[in-house]
Amino acid sequence: MNNIKSIVAASLVVVMGLMSCDSGNMRRTPGHIYAPDMTYSRAYDAYTTNPNFADSMTSRLPVEGTIARGHQMPDHLKEGDTNAYKTFTTSAKFSEAELKEGGRLFNIYCGICHGQNLDGQGPLFASGKFASMPANFKDAKYLHMSVGQMYAAIKYGKNMMGSYASQIDIRQRWMIIAYIKKVQSTNGGDAYTFGEAASTPAAPAADTAHGKPVAAVTGK
Ligand code: HEC
Repeated sequence: MNNIKSIVAASLVVVMGLMSCDSGNMRRTPGHIYAPDMTYSRAYDAYTTNPNFADSMTSRLPVEGTIARGHQMPDHLKEGDTNAYKTFTTSAKFSEAELKEGGRLFNIYCGICHGQNLDGQGPLFASGKFASMPANFKDAKYLHMSVGQMYAAIKYGKNMMGSYASQIDIRQRWMIIAYIKKVQSTNGGDAYTFGEAASTPAAPAADTAHGKPVAAVTGK
């Protein structure tokens, strides 16, 4: 009996010995790592579980009641409050550069349906793949639409149009509306009111905060 045990034990040792030698050319250890704490982060990765918090989530929500730098106070426009839509507005004014940015954002987010000419003939609608006619901002029906109602459309969507609240922040929404209103003002719409007072030369402070050189864009 003892014999069998020792034979088994001995052969195990031999097999394990062979296994440890027989790795061919394959290296199973990575060797030395320079600055291992850079290779293997000691911080918790986002989206991993975390024992330090009761809900085990590493990604934390912002502290309640705080506003991230560069962001604005939330608006209090409620969905479906069509009376508030009529009067809701902003005191924001936009430089030429910001108006141009509004146009850029419009072409990215809205042009596909509303068309880069704002005539409701964007490529998605023109292709026939999108059944519902997007607003034609040059049509009498929309020329005098209140800015609050436009804002509500961006924030909450309208029928077949989805909400853009998660992609476009508050200031950007107003920039886009300013752009629409500017184009409308030269197509029979109301006078444009989002512009800065003529004596203020394109607010360099505000524009450098957006990381855009003013001179390059205001010339146009
Ligand atoms: C996927 C297509 C689509 C995109 C993208 C889209 N819209 Fe629309 N939009 C529509 C349609 C369709 C309507 C007409 C809704 C209705 O009255 O039934 C509409 C209506 C509107 C209206 C009129 C709202 C009202 O109360 O009648 C405004 C303003 C508007 N869109 C602005 C925007 C802006 C600004 C963007 C970009 C941020 C945008 N839309 C992106 C499809 C789109």
